[in-house]
Amino acid sequence: MRGIILAGGRGTRLLPATGVISKQLLPVYDTPMIFHPMALLMSAGVREILLISTPDNLGAFSALFEDGSQLGISVSYAAQAEPRGIAEALIIADDFAAGGPVTLALGDNIFLGGATAQLLRNAFHRPVGATLFATPVANPQAFGIVALNSAGEALSIEEKPRNPKSSYAVTGLYVYDGTAAAIAASIKPSARGELEITDVNNAYLAGSKVFVETLPQSETWFDTGTPDSLLEASLKVRKLETETGRKIACLESIALGAGWITPDAVRAAAQRWSGSAYGRALEREATVAHALERS
Ligand code: G1P
Repeated sequence: MRGIILAGGRGTRLLPATGVISKQLLPVYDTPMIFHPMALLMSAGVREILLISTPDNLGAFSALFEDGSQLGISVSYAAQAEPRGIAEALIIADDFAAGGPVTLALGDNIFLGGATAQLLRNAFHRPVGATLFATPVANPQAFGIVALNSAGEALSIEEKPRNPKSSYAVTGLYVYDGTAAAIAASIKPSARGELEITDVNNAYLAGSKVFVETLPQSETWFDTGTPDSLLEASLKVRKLETETGRKIACLESIALGAGWITPDAVRAAAQRWSGSAYGRALEREATVAHALERS
């Protein structure tokens, strides 16, 4: 499965914090926000990733991830010249997807609790259609909203409805079959001038090809587009790390666990980030992995 991470947009609601830096590079507690979707895709076994950002910010992302080989994955880059909507990412990624299925993750969506990666893996086995991941929210007017019947099937999907039919938000994580780019290319921009991902999802729904996974209660989802949600996500990450003694969104740790990189590569990353708690966690991990190798 190939994965697209969309890290575009102007980050308007976070200005001036996003005045000269991409929103998806701002910290969520101790890592750049983009580590979260990257960790999620990697945890689901995705090793080929296309990162889409604004022309101004691509350089910073490629300085951070390079070609991905240090993580045992492949990361390539493409520009979204203007913020023309999430669905445009599918068009930009058309060559990358090469007619096959793709998963799309928004760079500012954070799933904490560890259950989403497995749901994502399950969705990869579906040969046709779109899989959406939904969770109840207190402010349904702010999101794409899916109404479900008692069997958990989608009845309607509406973008930021004034009178929501349900409280289930469609999170910024999607799995599509090979027809997604063609569908995205066929839709018209919305009133806000964007190609809406909700319109792509509705095209799948019209063909009864939408599957909805609801996140378990143990999972917490954040769209970190506002100062408050960014702070809340940071506090939640700190709490989880304190409780578990483990780093969240630790990319090298995921890659090592998957057998994609060696303990030496983890040590190299520990050097790169030395002086930080993240770097020390990697150092410890490399030491344990080396000891296991010898035993
Ligand atoms: C976008 C989508 C919306 C989805 C949300 C998740 O909203 O359009 O359907 O629920 O991401 O974060 P936007 O961030 O563009 O307002």
